[in-house]
Amino acid sequence: MRAHYRSTHEPLSAHDLEQHGVHYRHLGLEKAVFQPVLDELSHKRGYSTQDEVKLSKETPNLPGVLKKFDDEHLHEDDEVRFLLDGEGVFDIRANDERWMRIVVEAGDLIVVPKGKHHRFELTEMCRIHCVRLFKDVAGWVPVYRENPPPG
Ligand SMILES: [Fe+2]
Repeated sequence: MRAHYRSTHEPLSAHDLEQHGVHYRHLGLEKAVFQPVLDELSHKRGYSTQDEVKLSKETPNLPGVLKKFDDEHLHEDDEVRFLLDGEGVFDIRANDERWMRIVVEAGDLIVVPKGKHHRFELTEMCRIHCVRLFKDVAGWVPVYRENPPPG
């Protein structure tokens, strides 16, 4: 994981992200290690479903799929992603509305809390394979932000 404020490039640690409600942990790719952590998180936060999603250049209509998430939005459920492969870029609004840019990679777990404005895109690698945890698939339908602040 690499994270910084977009405006100043000031680096952000996992502890800093936590202050803004964003949970991050590096779990690695050993299933015997990461799955119990995901199970515990599901138990604690009430996620009932786990599935996997893959996006790559081979995904039909990839630009259309990505377009849904690259405008600023929030969800009514947490957005939980554990990366098995590839990379992703989350821009998440800090408590003062500055953008925090977080690049996640294989073995990383990130939880964007419900109600937190963010957007998502792929890196130049153009590939991601991740586990998702959620309560209800309807909960993370994007709710787009009207009149987003500049930045
Ligand atoms: Fe999202």
